Amino acid sequence: MRIGIATDHGGYGLKEEFVGELKAAGHEVVDFGAHGLDPGDDYPDFVIPLAEAVAAGKVERGVAICGSGVGASVCANKVPGIRAGLVHDHYSAKQGVEDDHMNIICMGGRTVGPAVAWDLVQTFLAAQFSQESRHLRRLGKVAAYEAATRATAATMPKS
Ligand code: RB5
Repeated sequence: MRIGIATDHGGYGLKEEFVGELKAAGHEVVDFGAHGLDPGDDYPDFVIPLAEAVAAGKVERGVAICGSGVGASVCANKVPGIRAGLVHDHYSAKQGVEDDHMNIICMGGRTVGPAVAWDLVQTFLAAQFSQESRHLRRLGKVAAYEAATRATAATMPKS
């Protein structure tokens, strides 16, 4: 699978480990940074390009990390077409894809250890959306809201 990954300084070490582990597992990895440990960097600078690549289909799924994972998930979900979830547990890493078609997993580099984080990533990547009608219905409502919001924004006069 072609996977994108991004982090700020809060998850830099974890991201570096994952790039190697994902490649060793046979995945193609696009690294959206950070490309060095800079305590002054900002997660949107890395997570937005990742989310845009996922939404555009340039990568199939994304892994976004920051200190807590909160900022990364807030940020990723601003990009239309993104269904990002902050995940700490195995059940949600699997069910988030099967039921909610999660396309970016967000994690906290300061809140999960490397072994748990790697299990979450592997579980996320192995899971498939169920295509069940109730989940399609629910996601359709989310997508309809997103489309309506964008349409309204497009018709608003620019000052
Ligand atoms: C940066 O120190 C930290 O605030 C950030 O990585 C993240 O945890 C935000 O949600």
